[in-house]
Amino acid sequence: MIPELSSPSVCMRDPPRVEEIIKTMQKAGTSTIQVISDFDMTLTRFAYNGKRCPTSHNILDNSKLISEECKAQLKDLLNTYYPIEIDSKRTAEEKLPLMVEWWTKAHTLLVQQRIRKDMLQDVVKESDAMLREGYQLFFDHLQEHSIPLLIFSAGVGDVLEEVIRQAGVFHPNVKVFSNYMDFDETGVLKAFKGELIHIYNKREGALLNTGHFQELKSRHNVLLVGDSLGDLTMADGVHSMENILKIGFLNDKVEERKTSYLNAYDIVLVKDETMEVLNALLLHLT
Ligand code: TMP
Ligand code: MG
Repeated sequence: MIPELSSPSVCMRDPPRVEEIIKTMQKAGTSTIQVISDFDMTLTRFAYNGKRCPTSHNILDNSKLISEECKAQLKDLLNTYYPIEIDSKRTAEEKLPLMVEWWTKAHTLLVQQRIRKDMLQDVVKESDAMLREGYQLFFDHLQEHSIPLLIFSAGVGDVLEEVIRQAGVFHPNVKVFSNYMDFDETGVLKAFKGELIHIYNKREGALLNTGHFQELKSRHNVLLVGDSLGDLTMADGVHSMENILKIGFLNDKVEERKTSYLNAYDIVLVKDETMEVLNALLLHLT
């Protein structure tokens, strides 16, 4: 049906079911579709030329805004908690308090650095942030067809918005749920706003934002795109969902995690740094 679904990076537990969902969504038409996507390591690349690409947090961590001492502390946190994030031997319940610990410690350190709002543009410009190959087509195509895109991220909202703004794809159909910085009257970071979004509470985050999903209540068909098992609950606020197609990037620890990804996501993209499959799917649906 879609030749890209036969590419070597694509794995599916139940291909006929995927085909069925795609057919149903195509028949229902673009006016019934919404896309909900994670940001870090989903819309952005995991690696480029063998080197890891930064998350929205890492863009700050690696920047000139952070002291050397603080950089070392943030790096220690990453080295401690990232292996836990991707550990297939621990349950989500076990990981949850540790992830809250990671986010809380990282945000506390960032706040201590008195980051200035007016520096964020430069910091993103100077960073190695990279959207996945084919991002332009992805964002432009959704905009052209008036399909809403919700970017639902446990990263830093101000930073990720700047990444997509500088890439020229922050179109009016894009909405972001994320952790936003709170600046004082002189433009210095004083805290993070609202409820913390971490990797395992996207369901709660979705349920807090009922207004957004209310506006989209006629869009019963969802494409969900993520890279973590925590991303699977991003669509939990959608009104009377009819069909959902879950697409997951499996970037790291492939062998250990493949089975759980295949059980959770309808389409698993293994070590695929591109948007090719997603774009082919969108072209087919519109
Ligand atoms: P996402 O929901 O947009 O994917 O963002 C979450 C990612 O951010 C997750 O993979 C872990 C990563 N992260 C960092 O890289 N540094 C940090 O300090 C924290 C708290 C998270
Ligand atoms: Mg992610």
